[in-house]
Amino acid sequence: MTVQVIKGHIVHAPAFGKLDVLENGCIVLDNGKIAGVFQDVPEQYKNALTVDYGDRIIMPSFADTHMHAPQYAMLGMGMDLPLLDWLNTYTFNTEAAFKDTAYAREVYRALAREMIADGTTRVCAFSSLHRESTMILMEEFENAGLTGYVGKVNMDRNSGDVLTETTEESMRETMLWLDEASDRFDHVKPILTPRFTPTCTNELMAFLGKLAAERKLPVQSHLSENTSEIAWVKELHPDCAQYWESYAKYGLFNDRTVMAHCVHSDARERKAMKDNGVWVAHCPDSNVNLISGTAPVRQMVKEGVRVTLGSDIAGGALLAMNKVVTAAIRASKVKRIETNWTDDFLTVAEAFYLGTTGGAKFFGAGEGFAAGDELHAIVVDDADLPKPAKKLSVAERFERAVYLMDKHNITAVYSAGRQVK
Ligand code: GUN
Ligand code: FE
Repeated sequence: MTVQVIKGHIVHAPAFGKLDVLENGCIVLDNGKIAGVFQDVPEQYKNALTVDYGDRIIMPSFADTHMHAPQYAMLGMGMDLPLLDWLNTYTFNTEAAFKDTAYAREVYRALAREMIADGTTRVCAFSSLHRESTMILMEEFENAGLTGYVGKVNMDRNSGDVLTETTEESMRETMLWLDEASDRFDHVKPILTPRFTPTCTNELMAFLGKLAAERKLPVQSHLSENTSEIAWVKELHPDCAQYWESYAKYGLFNDRTVMAHCVHSDARERKAMKDNGVWVAHCPDSNVNLISGTAPVRQMVKEGVRVTLGSDIAGGALLAMNKVVTAAIRASKVKRIETNWTDDFLTVAEAFYLGTTGGAKFFGAGEGFAAGDELHAIVVDDADLPKPAKKLSVAERFERAVYLMDKHNITAVYSAGRQVK
């Protein structure tokens, strides 16, 4: 048994809108698991191995619950088109290149390193439809210290000439991939990934729904991101009153499902998400870049829908999740303006909760630095950020760090109880 004490200023979000700030506090770890957060080191741990981060701030690391790993290659490009044109012009071409495993290795290694450097330790990622490159992504995430889920994308229609698989290929490759991937890695596991309703035949959706139920697998996809997409789904599934039903009728809409965007989800669709325990991955930077709209996030939270945050690279151009947290705050303020000052906006504490605890719970974690959880944390050195004349409180420094910190300010990263940076 190894006990370790980590000292510094501790800030975490144990509930939506609630920040706990502990100046000069400590976290006690027992074999990488949190034994407790304390103001003073308890007597029985006085002689334990201690790491003192002094004046630095220790906060939870981030969870990115929706991103497209191959699109890292096109980060910051193709930002002048709405969703469906953007997919056909840039995105499918970019993903097609991941047939080449050497190229995939190079891109995925760089991506994994950058995510850890930015303080993201939990991730739910789309790969491309290529099985071998998907295994490479899982391996690079595992080696870099990331934890979470990766999905081989399923898409057997409406994806142009460059990026196609037949229904039969999609099913066969998925089974082969699950055989290879299910027990290969300690921290990175498979998630079923129908890209979205327009690119998946009914036969493929039925197959994936059955597989999800039989093997109790999690599922990720896209929902109600863009109005043209929604109209298209209505044409493809005239029997469904709403988009979500095109997933629900195949068993792909339950408490192991994370749906990205939900920008245009009305009260009925939101109620379906709540009643089915579906998780929402809110991707504010993507929603603005692709001119999709502003998601009713505050409303969802109020109604009891489980909301998390995603970078959605490369629809989103921000990989660093602290930047996505601030993008969520800005988007919520635009929503407030749009709704004639009736919707509340997200406070820093609330948005930080969504980017840390909110997402971490999808991976089975508790609230904030919860006892019994493996430590997922970052250590922030804000000494080089601009200094006002008056000495800032730890709470003020925390807020500014969320807005301004960059990779170099994150001096240590813990993931699943291990130090990985
Ligand atoms: N819907 C289907 N595929 C995609 C994708 O790659 N990005 C986004 N933002 N939405 C999608
Ligand atoms: Fe996406």
